[in-house]
Amino acid sequence: MNVVETCGKETLLIPGTSVQRSFSSIDEEVVGFEKDAESIMQKLTRGTKKLDVISIFGMPGIGKTTLARKVYNIPSIVNHFDIKVWCSVSQEYDRRTLLGEILKQTTRKSEIIEADDRPDMLRRSLIGKRYLIVLDDIWDVKAWEDLDLCFPKGENGSRVMVTTRIEQVAKHLQHHSNPYPLRFLTRAESWELLLKKVF
Ligand SMILES: Nc1ncnc2c1ncn2[C@@H]1O[C@H](COP(=O)(O)OP(=O)(O)OP(=O)(O)O)[C@@H](O)[C@H]1O
Ligand SMILES: [Mg+2]
Repeated sequence: MNVVETCGKETLLIPGTSVQRSFSSIDEEVVGFEKDAESIMQKLTRGTKKLDVISIFGMPGIGKTTLARKVYNIPSIVNHFDIKVWCSVSQEYDRRTLLGEILKQTTRKSEIIEADDRPDMLRRSLIGKRYLIVLDDIWDVKAWEDLDLCFPKGENGSRVMVTTRIEQVAKHLQHHSNPYPLRFLTRAESWELLLKKVF
């Protein structure tokens, strides 16, 4: 974390480069976000049985990936879904690689699957299952359109959880649930986070 600035009552976290951020947050203790995690959990486990997209959107570094990862690892979420996939999309992505990454987590044998067969294989691996697929850091609806056909639309309570900086992308992907605007940490939470990072 490079800078912590206060903006009135709220606190804005401005992170370092994407390289510095990388995935260091995965196993780190998450500050706050309890209620946010609860809201996202409800969206993941309750409501429509149809496929739903749960989008978390907000400014760079605000904690979207951190919150998504926190929810993804909650034991009741782990147990709720038959298949769980975490996939980092980012601004520059390659559809075939993305499909390969997702397949690796659904079938564990993606390396022997020809690139052209991957969409069909992915679809078949998900049919009849209650799946949770996280598409972290989507910038463009094109990334969704590239994958959407591979996601079976059964009534198993499957979910795709998306994080994005771009509200319009979140709105475009909306199925049933409203996109979730991630709040800033409070001043107290930001202090706590700063102290945790420093010590
Ligand atoms: N509530 C929090 N608890 C612990 N660490 C946090 C929290 N919020 C942010 N961070 C830290 O701030 C950094 C940025 O968080 P994160 O990657 O989740 O932001 P982001 O909103 O996904 O950013 P981007 O838009 O760049 O993807 C990470 O190092 C993460 O560990
Ligand atoms: Mg992120």
